[in-house]
Amino acid sequence: MRQIVAIYPGSFDPVTNGHLDLIQRASNLFDRLVVAVLVNPEKDPLFSPQERVKMLDLVVAHLPNVEVDTFEGLLVDYARSKGARVLLRGIRAVSDYEYELQMALMNRQLEPDMETVFMLPAEAYSYLSSRLVREVARLGGSIKGLVPAAVEERIRAKLMISK
Ligand code: PNS
Repeated sequence: MRQIVAIYPGSFDPVTNGHLDLIQRASNLFDRLVVAVLVNPEKDPLFSPQERVKMLDLVVAHLPNVEVDTFEGLLVDYARSKGARVLLRGIRAVSDYEYELQMALMNRQLEPDMETVFMLPAEAYSYLSSRLVREVARLGGSIKGLVPAAVEERIRAKLMISK
């Protein structure tokens, strides 16, 4: 029987509870899910791609059909190399839609057989983003409940914040 492999690409700097919620939902839907961290030339990342992969590995360890990887270059090329036909993206609010639509249509233009599937994270996480988590942590605010506990610890260590 054909297996449906999905790629969940992103920056994941760092993985949030919103990402994790989506990963859990998608792991129930697809045969295999590859969480793919973009090795990107972002100017001011908090974590290196290797550190992001380590944190993701930790938080998806209980999901046997989920693996974590990095990718460079075009997403559709990477997805093809993994035998995937689905690109998974989370949509939190209408404001995400325009950017996601552009990316999905560009990816379709590049690879017509690749389908982008949008999923909704739990409403509780609809305001959550890695960028805001980084900002709040840098400014000394609490990020409890926004990221997995192991990630919270690593953010504290990285920013040298005490409890
Ligand atoms: O978490 P992010 O930063 O919103 O993820 C963006 C990501 C990684 C999905 C996007 O930047 C991407 O796919 N980059 C790879 C380059 C690419 O394929 N670009 C053309 C398609 S839009």
